[in-house]
Amino acid sequence: MTLRIGFVGCGHIASVHSLAIGALGGAGIVDARVVAAYDTDTERARRLAGSHDAITTDEVESLLDACEVVWVCTWTSEHLPVVRAAVERGRSVFCEKPLAPSLAECEEVAALLQQVPHQVGLVLRHAPVFRALAEAVHSGRFGRALATVFRDDQYFPNQGMYHSDWRADPSLAGGGTLIEHSIHDVDVLRWVLGDPAQVSARVANQFGHAGIDDVAALTFAYPDASVATLISVWHQVMRRPSSRRVEVFCEDALLWTDDDHLGPLHVETTDAISEIEASLPAWVGDLELAPEITGLVAPYAVAAKAFLDALATGASGEPEAATALAAHRLVDVAYRSAAAGGAPFPAPAR
Ligand SMILES: NC(=O)c1ccc[n+]([C@@H]2O[C@H](COP(=O)([O-])OP(=O)(O)OC[C@H]3O[C@@H](n4cnc5c(N)ncnc54)[C@H](O)[C@@H]3O)[C@@H](O)[C@H]2O)c1
Repeated sequence: MTLRIGFVGCGHIASVHSLAIGALGGAGIVDARVVAAYDTDTERARRLAGSHDAITTDEVESLLDACEVVWVCTWTSEHLPVVRAAVERGRSVFCEKPLAPSLAECEEVAALLQQVPHQVGLVLRHAPVFRALAEAVHSGRFGRALATVFRDDQYFPNQGMYHSDWRADPSLAGGGTLIEHSIHDVDVLRWVLGDPAQVSARVANQFGHAGIDDVAALTFAYPDASVATLISVWHQVMRRPSSRRVEVFCEDALLWTDDDHLGPLHVETTDAISEIEASLPAWVGDLELAPEITGLVAPYAVAAKAFLDALATGASGEPEAATALAAHRLVDVAYRSAAAGGAPFPAPAR
Protein backbone atom coordinates (compact mmCIF):
# COMPACT_ATOMS: atom_id res chain seq x y z
CA MET A 1 0.00 0.00 0.00
CA THR A 2 1.33 3.42 -0.93
CA LEU A 3 2.51 5.27 2.19
CA ARG A 4 0.85 8.66 2.50
CA ILE A 5 3.13 11.43 3.73
CA GLY A 6 2.15 14.79 5.23
CA PHE A 7 4.41 17.80 5.71
CA VAL A 8 4.08 20.14 8.69
CA GLY A 9 6.22 23.18 7.96
CA CYS A 10 6.67 23.83 4.23
CA GLY A 11 9.71 26.10 4.09
CA HIS A 12 13.23 25.61 2.76
CA ILE A 13 14.11 22.13 4.01
CA ALA A 14 10.58 20.78 3.54
CA SER A 15 10.82 21.72 -0.14
CA VAL A 16 14.08 19.79 -0.44
CA HIS A 17 12.66 16.73 1.36
CA SER A 18 9.49 16.80 -0.70
CA LEU A 19 11.46 17.01 -3.96
CA ALA A 20 13.46 14.00 -2.77
CA ILE A 21 10.34 11.99 -1.90
CA GLY A 22 8.66 12.96 -5.15
CA ALA A 23 11.69 11.83 -7.15
CA LEU A 24 11.96 8.56 -5.20
CA GLY A 25 8.29 7.80 -5.79
CA GLY A 26 8.48 8.88 -9.43
CA ALA A 27 11.36 6.48 -10.07
CA GLY A 28 9.52 3.62 -8.34
CA ILE A 29 12.25 3.36 -5.70
CA VAL A 30 9.77 3.78 -2.84
CA ASP A 31 6.02 3.30 -2.68
CA ALA A 32 5.16 6.60 -1.01
CA ARG A 33 3.78 9.98 -1.97
CA VAL A 34 3.24 13.42 -0.47
CA VAL A 35 -0.51 13.82 0.08
CA ALA A 36 -0.91 16.75 2.47
CA ALA A 37 0.81 19.93 3.59
CA TYR A 38 0.27 22.33 6.46
CA ASP A 39 2.12 25.54 7.24
CA THR A 40 1.02 28.53 9.29
CA ASP A 41 2.12 30.43 6.17
CA THR A 42 -0.64 29.16 3.86
CA GLU A 43 1.13 30.24 0.68
CA ARG A 44 4.08 27.99 1.51
CA ALA A 45 1.78 25.04 2.13
CA ARG A 46 -0.01 25.73 -1.14
CA ARG A 47 3.27 25.82 -3.06
CA LEU A 48 4.53 22.52 -1.63
CA ALA A 49 1.17 20.79 -2.07
CA GLY A 50 0.93 22.09 -5.64
CA SER A 51 4.02 20.24 -6.76
CA HIS A 52 2.60 16.91 -5.49
CA ASP A 53 -1.07 17.17 -6.29
CA ALA A 54 -1.55 17.11 -2.51
CA ILE A 55 -4.10 18.85 -0.28
CA THR A 56 -3.44 21.67 2.15
CA THR A 57 -5.02 21.67 5.59
CA ASP A 58 -5.89 24.42 8.09
CA GLU A 59 -4.34 22.73 11.09
CA VAL A 60 -2.23 19.74 12.12
CA GLU A 61 -5.09 17.40 13.14
CA SER A 62 -6.69 17.29 9.70
CA LEU A 63 -3.26 16.71 8.15
CA LEU A 64 -2.87 13.73 10.50
CA ASP A 65 -6.22 12.38 9.26
CA ALA A 66 -4.82 12.26 5.73
CA CYS A 67 -1.47 10.46 6.20
CA GLU A 68 0.43 7.67 7.93
CA VAL A 69 3.82 9.42 8.00
CA VAL A 70 4.62 13.00 9.02
CA TRP A 71 7.70 15.02 8.07
CA VAL A 72 8.13 17.66 10.81
CA CYS A 73 9.92 20.60 9.19
CA THR A 74 8.74 23.59 11.21
CA TRP A 75 11.25 25.87 12.85
CA THR A 76 12.81 24.21 15.87
CA SER A 77 10.55 25.45 18.70
CA GLU A 78 7.47 23.91 17.03
CA HIS A 79 8.90 20.40 16.70
CA LEU A 80 7.67 19.37 20.18
CA PRO A 81 3.94 20.20 19.80
CA VAL A 82 3.80 18.79 16.27
CA VAL A 83 5.65 15.59 17.22
CA ARG A 84 3.36 15.21 20.25
CA ALA A 85 0.24 15.54 18.08
CA ALA A 86 1.58 13.06 15.53
CA VAL A 87 2.66 10.48 18.12
CA GLU A 88 -0.67 10.72 19.95
CA ARG A 89 -2.28 9.70 16.65
CA GLY A 90 0.23 6.86 16.16
CA ARG A 91 1.81 8.37 13.06
CA SER A 92 5.39 7.61 12.02
CA VAL A 93 7.55 10.73 12.25
CA PHE A 94 10.57 12.13 10.45
CA CYS A 95 11.67 14.98 12.74
CA GLU A 96 14.13 17.60 11.61
CA LYS A 97 17.13 18.52 13.75
CA PRO A 98 17.64 20.17 16.21
CA LEU A 99 15.02 18.23 18.18
CA ALA A 100 14.08 21.35 20.18
CA PRO A 101 15.55 24.61 21.54
CA SER A 102 16.30 23.39 25.10
CA LEU A 103 17.68 20.11 26.38
CA ALA A 104 14.55 19.51 28.50
CA GLU A 105 12.37 19.81 25.39
CA CYS A 106 14.80 17.63 23.39
CA GLU A 107 14.31 14.92 26.03
CA GLU A 108 10.53 15.26 25.58
CA VAL A 109 10.73 15.09 21.79
CA ALA A 110 13.03 12.05 21.97
CA ALA A 111 10.74 10.25 24.45
CA LEU A 112 7.76 10.86 22.15
CA LEU A 113 9.59 9.77 19.00
CA GLN A 114 10.64 6.54 20.68
CA GLN A 115 6.95 5.53 20.85
CA VAL A 116 6.62 5.33 17.05
CA PRO A 117 8.77 4.43 14.03
CA HIS A 118 10.84 7.56 13.45
CA GLN A 119 14.04 9.07 12.09
CA VAL A 120 15.84 12.35 12.82
CA GLY A 121 17.15 14.69 10.13
CA LEU A 122 20.84 14.40 11.01
CA VAL A 123 21.48 13.91 7.34
CA LEU A 124 25.29 13.75 7.52
CA ARG A 125 24.79 10.19 8.81
CA HIS A 126 23.93 9.38 5.19
CA ALA A 127 26.80 11.31 3.59
CA PRO A 128 29.09 8.86 1.76
CA VAL A 129 32.24 10.72 2.85
CA PHE A 130 31.42 10.48 6.56
CA ARG A 131 30.46 6.83 6.19
CA ALA A 132 33.90 6.28 4.64
CA LEU A 133 35.58 8.27 7.44
CA ALA A 134 33.77 6.36 10.19
CA GLU A 135 34.66 3.05 8.55
CA ALA A 136 38.32 4.06 8.12
CA VAL A 137 38.69 5.15 11.75
CA HIS A 138 36.69 2.26 13.22
CA SER A 139 38.65 -0.31 11.21
CA GLY A 140 41.84 0.67 13.06
CA ARG A 141 43.87 0.14 9.89
CA PHE A 142 45.46 3.59 10.22
CA GLY A 143 46.11 3.23 13.95
CA ARG A 144 44.36 5.13 16.72
CA ALA A 145 42.82 8.55 16.13
CA LEU A 146 45.02 11.07 17.94
CA ALA A 147 43.61 14.49 17.13
CA THR A 148 40.74 15.80 14.99
CA VAL A 149 40.07 19.25 13.60
CA PHE A 150 36.50 19.94 12.42
CA ARG A 151 35.62 23.29 10.86
CA ASP A 152 32.09 24.20 9.86
CA ASP A 153 31.16 27.59 8.43
CA GLN A 154 28.28 29.17 6.62
CA TYR A 155 26.92 32.64 6.00
CA PHE A 156 24.54 33.83 8.71
CA PRO A 157 21.48 31.81 7.65
CA ASN A 158 18.80 34.45 8.11
CA GLN A 159 19.47 35.40 4.47
CA GLY A 160 20.30 33.86 1.09
CA MET A 161 18.65 30.51 0.39
CA TYR A 162 17.76 30.08 4.11
CA HIS A 163 15.95 33.41 4.34
CA SER A 164 14.58 32.84 7.83
CA ASP A 165 14.15 35.35 10.65
CA TRP A 166 13.62 32.64 13.25
CA ARG A 167 17.34 31.71 13.16
CA ALA A 168 18.07 35.04 14.88
CA ASP A 169 15.59 34.32 17.72
CA PRO A 170 16.85 32.01 20.49
CA SER A 171 13.31 31.20 21.67
CA LEU A 172 12.61 29.66 18.25
CA ALA A 173 16.07 28.30 17.35
CA GLY A 174 17.54 27.47 20.79
CA GLY A 175 20.79 29.27 20.01
CA GLY A 176 23.03 29.93 17.06
CA THR A 177 25.61 28.14 15.00
CA LEU A 178 26.39 25.49 17.63
CA ILE A 179 22.91 24.04 18.11
CA GLU A 180 21.30 25.06 14.83
CA HIS A 181 24.03 23.97 12.44
CA SER A 182 26.76 22.14 14.33
CA ILE A 183 24.44 19.65 16.02
CA HIS A 184 25.29 17.75 12.80
CA ASP A 185 29.02 18.04 13.50
CA VAL A 186 28.77 17.02 17.15
CA ASP A 187 26.84 13.95 15.99
CA VAL A 188 29.49 13.12 13.35
CA LEU A 189 32.27 13.49 15.94
CA ARG A 190 30.42 11.09 18.30
CA TRP A 191 29.87 8.67 15.44
CA VAL A 192 33.49 8.65 14.30
CA LEU A 193 35.34 9.09 17.61
CA GLY A 194 32.90 7.96 20.30
CA ASP A 195 31.88 9.79 23.45
CA PRO A 196 34.30 12.31 24.91
CA ALA A 197 35.09 12.35 28.62
CA GLN A 198 35.32 16.13 28.91
CA VAL A 199 34.01 19.16 27.02
CA SER A 200 35.16 22.77 27.06
CA ALA A 201 33.81 25.52 24.86
CA ARG A 202 33.75 29.20 24.07
CA VAL A 203 30.99 30.94 22.13
CA ALA A 204 30.81 34.48 20.83
CA ASN A 205 28.10 36.74 19.52
CA GLN A 206 29.53 39.10 16.90
CA PHE A 207 26.40 40.04 14.95
CA GLY A 208 24.35 41.35 17.84
CA HIS A 209 21.47 38.86 17.89
CA ALA A 210 21.11 38.29 21.64
CA GLY A 211 21.35 34.61 22.55
CA ILE A 212 22.51 33.59 19.06
CA ASP A 213 26.12 32.40 19.05
CA ASP A 214 27.78 33.02 15.70
CA VAL A 215 31.17 31.61 16.69
CA ALA A 216 31.68 28.45 18.75
CA ALA A 217 34.94 26.68 19.58
CA LEU A 218 34.69 23.32 21.33
CA THR A 219 37.32 20.93 22.62
CA PHE A 220 36.41 17.32 23.26
CA ALA A 221 38.88 15.28 25.35
CA TYR A 222 38.54 11.51 25.04
CA PRO A 223 39.26 8.83 27.65
CA ASP A 224 42.36 7.67 25.70
CA ALA A 225 43.84 11.24 25.79
CA SER A 226 42.98 11.93 22.13
CA VAL A 227 41.30 15.27 21.37
CA ALA A 228 38.98 16.92 18.85
CA THR A 229 38.26 20.55 18.19
CA LEU A 230 35.19 21.94 16.48
CA ILE A 231 35.13 25.48 15.12
CA SER A 232 31.69 26.62 13.99
CA VAL A 233 31.26 30.04 12.40
CA TRP A 234 28.46 32.12 10.93
CA HIS A 235 29.93 34.90 8.81
CA GLN A 236 28.92 37.20 5.95
CA VAL A 237 30.74 35.54 3.04
CA MET A 238 27.69 34.99 0.87
CA ARG A 239 29.44 32.62 -1.53
CA ARG A 240 29.86 30.12 1.36
CA PRO A 241 26.34 28.78 2.15
CA SER A 242 27.71 25.79 4.09
CA SER A 243 31.15 24.28 4.12
CA ARG A 244 32.96 21.73 6.24
CA ARG A 245 36.55 20.57 6.49
CA VAL A 246 37.56 17.65 8.67
CA GLU A 247 41.05 16.37 9.44
CA VAL A 248 41.61 13.24 11.53
CA PHE A 249 45.22 12.60 12.48
CA CYS A 250 45.64 8.90 13.13
CA GLU A 251 48.89 7.22 14.18
CA ASP A 252 49.67 6.13 10.62
CA ALA A 253 47.66 8.46 8.39
CA LEU A 254 46.06 11.84 8.01
CA LEU A 255 42.46 11.44 6.83
CA TRP A 256 40.80 14.59 5.54
CA THR A 257 38.01 15.98 3.44
CA ASP A 258 36.74 19.40 2.52
CA ASP A 259 33.46 18.20 1.06
CA ASP A 260 30.77 17.08 3.49
CA HIS A 261 28.91 14.88 1.05
CA LEU A 262 30.86 13.06 -1.63
CA GLY A 263 34.37 13.85 -0.43
CA PRO A 264 36.69 12.42 -1.55
CA LEU A 265 38.24 11.27 1.70
CA HIS A 266 41.96 11.84 1.29
CA VAL A 267 44.45 9.54 3.01
CA GLU A 268 48.08 10.50 3.48
CA THR A 269 50.42 7.84 4.79
CA THR A 270 54.22 7.57 4.86
CA ASP A 271 54.11 5.90 1.44
CA ALA A 272 51.46 7.78 -0.52
CA ILE A 273 48.54 10.11 -0.80
CA SER A 274 45.39 8.36 -1.98
CA GLU A 275 41.63 8.78 -1.98
CA ILE A 276 38.89 6.60 -0.58
CA GLU A 277 35.96 6.68 -2.96
CA ALA A 278 32.73 7.86 -1.39
CA SER A 279 29.93 7.36 -3.86
CA LEU A 280 26.16 7.56 -3.77
CA PRO A 281 24.03 4.45 -4.27
CA ALA A 282 23.53 3.62 -7.94
CA TRP A 283 19.75 4.22 -7.72
CA VAL A 284 20.39 7.97 -7.28
CA GLY A 285 21.07 7.98 -11.04
CA ASP A 286 17.44 6.95 -11.63
CA LEU A 287 16.01 10.03 -9.90
CA GLU A 288 14.50 12.51 -12.30
CA LEU A 289 16.02 15.68 -10.92
CA ALA A 290 17.26 18.74 -12.75
CA PRO A 291 21.08 18.55 -12.82
CA GLU A 292 21.43 21.87 -10.94
CA ILE A 293 19.53 20.54 -7.90
CA THR A 294 20.70 16.93 -7.87
CA GLY A 295 23.61 17.71 -5.52
CA LEU A 296 21.32 19.49 -3.06
CA VAL A 297 18.50 16.93 -3.10
CA ALA A 298 20.42 13.61 -3.33
CA PRO A 299 21.54 13.51 0.36
CA TYR A 300 17.93 13.99 1.46
CA ALA A 301 16.76 11.29 -0.96
CA VAL A 302 19.21 8.86 0.63
CA ALA A 303 17.91 9.78 4.11
CA ALA A 304 14.26 9.57 3.02
CA LYS A 305 14.76 6.17 1.39
CA ALA A 306 16.45 4.87 4.55
CA PHE A 307 13.42 5.94 6.59
CA LEU A 308 10.80 4.66 4.16
CA ASP A 309 12.63 1.32 3.81
CA ALA A 310 12.73 1.02 7.61
CA LEU A 311 9.02 1.82 7.84
CA ALA A 312 8.27 -0.99 5.40
CA THR A 313 9.55 -3.37 8.10
CA GLY A 314 7.89 -1.46 10.96
CA ALA A 315 11.22 -0.18 12.26
CA SER A 316 12.75 3.25 12.84
CA GLY A 317 15.41 4.59 10.50
CA GLU A 318 18.91 5.80 11.37
CA PRO A 319 19.66 8.04 13.10
CA GLU A 320 17.10 7.48 15.83
CA ALA A 321 16.07 9.92 18.55
CA ALA A 322 18.49 8.46 21.11
CA THR A 323 21.41 9.29 18.82
CA ALA A 324 20.21 12.85 18.34
CA LEU A 325 19.63 13.26 22.07
CA ALA A 326 23.19 12.19 22.85
CA ALA A 327 24.47 14.93 20.53
CA HIS A 328 22.13 17.45 22.17
CA ARG A 329 23.49 16.52 25.61
CA LEU A 330 27.00 17.36 24.39
CA VAL A 331 25.81 20.64 22.90
CA ASP A 332 24.14 21.50 26.20
CA VAL A 333 27.35 20.79 28.14
CA ALA A 334 29.28 22.93 25.65
CA TYR A 335 26.94 25.89 26.19
CA ARG A 336 27.29 25.44 29.96
CA SER A 337 31.08 25.36 29.66
CA ALA A 338 30.97 28.52 27.55
CA ALA A 339 28.78 30.22 30.15
CA ALA A 340 31.44 29.30 32.71
CA GLY A 341 34.19 30.96 30.68
CA GLY A 342 35.35 27.79 28.91
CA ALA A 343 35.78 25.65 32.02
CA PRO A 344 36.09 21.92 31.30
CA PHE A 345 32.91 20.02 32.15
CA PRO A 346 32.54 16.24 32.34
CA ALA A 347 30.61 14.86 29.38
CA PRO A 348 27.18 13.48 30.25
CA ALA A 349 27.15 9.83 31.30
CA ARG A 350 25.68 7.55 28.62
N1 LIG B 1 18.80 18.51 8.20
C1 LIG B 1 19.16 19.59 7.53
O1 LIG B 1 20.06 19.52 6.70
C2 LIG B 1 18.40 20.88 7.74
C3 LIG B 1 18.63 21.95 6.86
C4 LIG B 1 17.90 23.12 7.06
C5 LIG B 1 17.00 23.21 8.11
N2 LIG B 1 16.86 22.17 8.97
C6 LIG B 1 15.92 22.27 10.12
O2 LIG B 1 14.59 22.20 9.60
C7 LIG B 1 13.72 23.08 10.33
C8 LIG B 1 13.11 24.10 9.35
O3 LIG B 1 14.16 24.86 8.75
P1 LIG B 1 13.90 25.64 7.37
O4 LIG B 1 15.22 26.09 6.89
O5 LIG B 1 13.07 24.82 6.47
O6 LIG B 1 13.05 26.89 7.91
P2 LIG B 1 11.98 27.75 7.10
O7 LIG B 1 11.82 29.02 7.85
O8 LIG B 1 12.34 27.82 5.66
O9 LIG B 1 10.65 26.88 7.20
C9 LIG B 1 10.00 26.65 8.44
C10 LIG B 1 8.51 26.69 8.16
O10 LIG B 1 7.79 26.26 9.34
C11 LIG B 1 6.58 26.98 9.37
N3 LIG B 1 6.01 26.86 10.70
C12 LIG B 1 6.48 27.37 11.86
N4 LIG B 1 5.73 26.98 12.89
C13 LIG B 1 4.75 26.18 12.37
C14 LIG B 1 3.68 25.44 12.94
N5 LIG B 1 3.44 25.43 14.26
N6 LIG B 1 2.90 24.71 12.13
C15 LIG B 1 3.13 24.70 10.78
N7 LIG B 1 4.13 25.38 10.19
C16 LIG B 1 4.93 26.10 10.97
C17 LIG B 1 6.98 28.38 8.95
O11 LIG B 1 5.89 29.17 8.54
C18 LIG B 1 7.98 28.09 7.83
O12 LIG B 1 7.36 28.06 6.56
C19 LIG B 1 14.58 23.70 11.42
O13 LIG B 1 14.46 22.96 12.61
C20 LIG B 1 15.99 23.58 10.86
O14 LIG B 1 16.99 23.55 11.86
C21 LIG B 1 17.51 21.01 8.80
